[in-house]
Amino acid sequence: MLQRSDFLLREDIIFLNHGSFGACPRAILDEQRRWVERLERQPVLFFREAPALLQSSRESLAAYVGAQPQDLVYVTNSTYGVNVAAHAFGDLLVAGDEIVTTDHEYGACDRAWHQYCVKKGIKYVRAEIPFPVPPIHDLVEIIWNRVTPKTKVLFLSHITSPTAVRLPVEELCARAKSAGIRTVVDGSHAPGHIPLHLSTLQADIYTANCHKWMCTPKGSAFLWVTPDLQEHVLPLIVSWGSDIPTADDGFFVDEHEYVGTRDISPFLTVPFALKWMAEHHWAEVQHDARALAAYASEVLLTIGGVESLCAIGQDAILQMAAVTLPDSTDTVDMKDWLYNKRSIEVVVHRWLGKPILRCSAHAHTSRADIDALAMAVNEYLRNTI
Ligand SMILES: Cc1ncc(COP(=O)(O)O)c(C=O)c1O
Repeated sequence: MLQRSDFLLREDIIFLNHGSFGACPRAILDEQRRWVERLERQPVLFFREAPALLQSSRESLAAYVGAQPQDLVYVTNSTYGVNVAAHAFGDLLVAGDEIVTTDHEYGACDRAWHQYCVKKGIKYVRAEIPFPVPPIHDLVEIIWNRVTPKTKVLFLSHITSPTAVRLPVEELCARAKSAGIRTVVDGSHAPGHIPLHLSTLQADIYTANCHKWMCTPKGSAFLWVTPDLQEHVLPLIVSWGSDIPTADDGFFVDEHEYVGTRDISPFLTVPFALKWMAEHHWAEVQHDARALAAYASEVLLTIGGVESLCAIGQDAILQMAAVTLPDSTDTVDMKDWLYNKRSIEVVVHRWLGKPILRCSAHAHTSRADIDALAMAVNEYLRNTI
């Protein structure tokens, strides 16, 4: 069984924010170091071998996320992946076209779409998700209600960042496909967290981080594009691309894989991480972490003024639990107090006017961490509200 000591996390911090940047275990960092050392022993040879190494790594990842290796490329992070998608549709769409999204998207990605849309005169429509977040069926209708005959693209998070809600991406991708609308999914929180099968999801573009819930080194993410769209989805950096084919996997991979000299060790570490996950019985790790997230929700909800963010039991299926705090909570002060006075790292922020606390659970989390959080939240709210 994995322990807290398998990670480098500081002993004096109660770390309940795996969701923002992940946390990488020692074993995986050691593997990354082996790749960096192999590179530095003979850099020229290493980069000659890189296409084959990357191809093999892509094959492992593709098998894990239910995709074909030629439809997927490594990128540094999903912010980059979303930018690639926004850039592609910025070129494909015309003024007056519409993109539908939600008001629970990650700020940087929302900003990227917005900038491309403003430049091209495309209307960027944010479906408003009410609090408490309604059940899946209602969510589908709330988002789909914003679709008009001018809608060309749907952009959705698989699991939202500010609110830890699993959006009904499967249902909406299927509906969009039958309406001839393209879909772009920000799956930043999905790999290693919820089951993924990209070949059957019916999305058109899917980008996600391995460095969050799969615990791989920072800078390991991927971009998957459905075959008929690949020729329109180009990297943001023009490099040698398909002028000098490197991999056996075709145009899309050649255009994206080599974008100048960069550290590819995070990508090459992924097959080791997948093996490590299997060796540590990942389904059990996920099950235990989900139980801890559900426990966090349960104990936080016993505190006066703390309410459920969702009308449905999302915590039962995710490793993140989010609750709303009393309206008058000063979220900046509370976050600082939790960190400075109780050594608790957890998300406390205001989103769409609601004070929200988001607690993550992973292999390094214990019941004692959650109890310490609940005690501290209770103390803070009792003394300030
Ligand atoms: C939903 C979502 N999208 C995108 C990102 C951005 O991830 P990265 O900084 O690795 O690009 C995050 C990070 O927390 C996220 O939660």
